[in-house]
Amino acid sequence: MKPRVFVTRIIPDKGLAMVRQHDWDIEVWQDPLPPPYEVLLQKVKGLDGLLCLLTDKIDANLMDASGPQIKVISQMAVGFDNIDVPAATQRGIPIGNTPGVLTDATADFAWALLMSAARRVAEGDKFTRAGRWKTWGPIDFLGPDVSGATLGIVGFGRIGQAVAKRAAGFDMRILYYDVQRYPDAEKSFNAQYADLEMVLRESDFVSIHTILSKETYHFFDDAKFKLMKPSAVVINTSRGPVVDPAALYRALANGTIAYAALDVTEPEPIKMDDPLLTLDNIIIAPHIASASFSSRNKMATMAAANLIAGLKGERLPNCVNPQVYG
Ligand code: DGY
Repeated sequence: MKPRVFVTRIIPDKGLAMVRQHDWDIEVWQDPLPPPYEVLLQKVKGLDGLLCLLTDKIDANLMDASGPQIKVISQMAVGFDNIDVPAATQRGIPIGNTPGVLTDATADFAWALLMSAARRVAEGDKFTRAGRWKTWGPIDFLGPDVSGATLGIVGFGRIGQAVAKRAAGFDMRILYYDVQRYPDAEKSFNAQYADLEMVLRESDFVSIHTILSKETYHFFDDAKFKLMKPSAVVINTSRGPVVDPAALYRALANGTIAYAALDVTEPEPIKMDDPLLTLDNIIIAPHIASASFSSRNKMATMAAANLIAGLKGERLPNCVNPQVYG
């Protein structure tokens, strides 16, 4: 029997081609929307390798439904909060992810959001398309300066640091908060470690780069927004549930903060009746920070490499639970 592989969506060709080089029984889900959980449960039965996305819920139940022969779950993303990693580890299933290759694309996009929010690019575009551009307006579309402002980065891992690196050209003061300190990065990017309260109180722009965990779920709540400046702009390119959406709505609607620019929401996709969509002082992108050609190609080839290694019984090049190897 050939090993059975299920790929939960059409991924960039380069990655699919790598998988298809093997004489395996490969099924690729063709619908542009993810397979519903109940369908996924059926698809994984007797499966040897699964290549999944952050839109797939991979829990213990699903792992058990696959059967004991499953050798690898390879996720085409760096984040893996959709996967019950302890359950996989308990069952000896290695989980792959794609770190590093989307750092620059995500940091670029955090900056795209920051600049768009500060200089009201999305609002200006809507205004133009609505036929409201009648003249050059001396007091229209004013926004905060980016140059010389204070940038607060919450979560100073790879992506947070890449965001800091990009701030150099804007003569910004950079504050960061993380559960650990990064002395080398502090020197390289001229960033100052500060406690969370100082970061939130003193920053003009707060860019969020934490992982989603029990500790960071709804981390940005009413109390955190109240610490920020009324002129603060909040950018989130990490995971939606790190921000309490109801608290964000209150903060934006009441003027506790000035603006938000999100690439991620809770839930995803955002519901069309979400009150956040009634506000003008927010930009919401559909989780596209990593969507540069090269980044998505690299994510696909890395995910394929993890899948292939797992199916060959080799150690995954990027494994989030190396404990499975003892
Ligand atoms: C990831 O890889 O975790 C990103 O959110 C995808 O854009």
